[in-house]
Amino acid sequence: MKGLPQTATALEALKYAIDFLAGIGIKEAKEEARAILKDGLGIDTLILYRDNPPLPSADVRKLNGILERRKKREPLQYILGFVWFYGLEIKVGAGALIPRPETEILVREALALAKKFRTDKNGKTRINVLDLCTGSGAIALALAKNLPDAEVTAVDISEDALGWAEKNRELNGAQNVRLLKGDLFGAVSSDQMNGSIGDRGQVRFGLITANPPYIKDRLIGSLEPEVSCWEPRVALSGGESGLFFTEEILRGAPGHLEPGGYLLLEMAGGTDAALLSGLCTQAGLLVENIVKDLAGWERVFIARKPDPAGVY
Ligand SMILES: C[S@@+](CC[C@H](N)C(=O)[O-])C[C@H]1O[C@@H](n2cnc3c(N)ncnc32)[C@H](O)[C@@H]1O
Repeated sequence: MKGLPQTATALEALKYAIDFLAGIGIKEAKEEARAILKDGLGIDTLILYRDNPPLPSADVRKLNGILERRKKREPLQYILGFVWFYGLEIKVGAGALIPRPETEILVREALALAKKFRTDKNGKTRINVLDLCTGSGAIALALAKNLPDAEVTAVDISEDALGWAEKNRELNGAQNVRLLKGDLFGAVSSDQMNGSIGDRGQVRFGLITANPPYIKDRLIGSLEPEVSCWEPRVALSGGESGLFFTEEILRGAPGHLEPGGYLLLEMAGGTDAALLSGLCTQAGLLVENIVKDLAGWERVFIARKPDPAGVY
């Protein structure tokens, strides 16, 4: 295709974009084309259909540029530069995993569990939250905005991902999020934080959340090119079994949870939930719940640290 002619109207541009995207094998060509006109070119949908304005030549060039990037199977979210997640705008681009809608289930469950924690006489829920493998910061920010009195610590090993998380913290004005670079729980040793210190000098949290890399290495190559060629491997690769990080987190969680605290882990569709339950019990945690996503996959694994004093 030669590109959209300079004299096109907005509706001609929409039709051109749909045909272009369908022609390169994009399944959701119509939805993507509409998103490109609305969010990529800033054309209001009502104006598009009611007035069908001529497209300024700068927009024609911009649209042709976007479609050329999409032809290389760059994810649309990277091209547009953002996604919506739990009502928040989250900026994304090279180096950060694109937050997925199913991860909102983990946030919803975490917020429901947070209600079980102490609320002071002013109705404030003070709780220490740790989000491991934070990537763009989507989970940490959704929790921080909905729990304004919580202290949220967000950890990632990737400098690039943390760069996006920092942008998103600013964009969403979340003062109660602290970003740390490091390897899982290694980032929250007591010398890096001033939190409640447990018996072995570790910082303790009421809630620990994580959407860790969980794709089996041998399957990464067979994923859609938008994922396998563009999203960072460090965000995808869960080792041979896919469970490398999940197991590490289950092992480390008891030492970092307050008694009665919860661990919420996103898991790959099709993960052996019985295996995870066994690992959870071995680690000394109680299996609280396993929540399915809309497609029926077991998606969020929830464990609780026993609380001998029965405070929670
Ligand atoms: C599946 S992504 C999840 C991103 C984000 N939480 C979300 O749900 O959209 C996994 C993230 O784990 C990070 N990661 C990989 N290995 C890590 C490690 N050893 N310690 C901390 N973070 C790690 C990756 O950089 C990536 O950002």
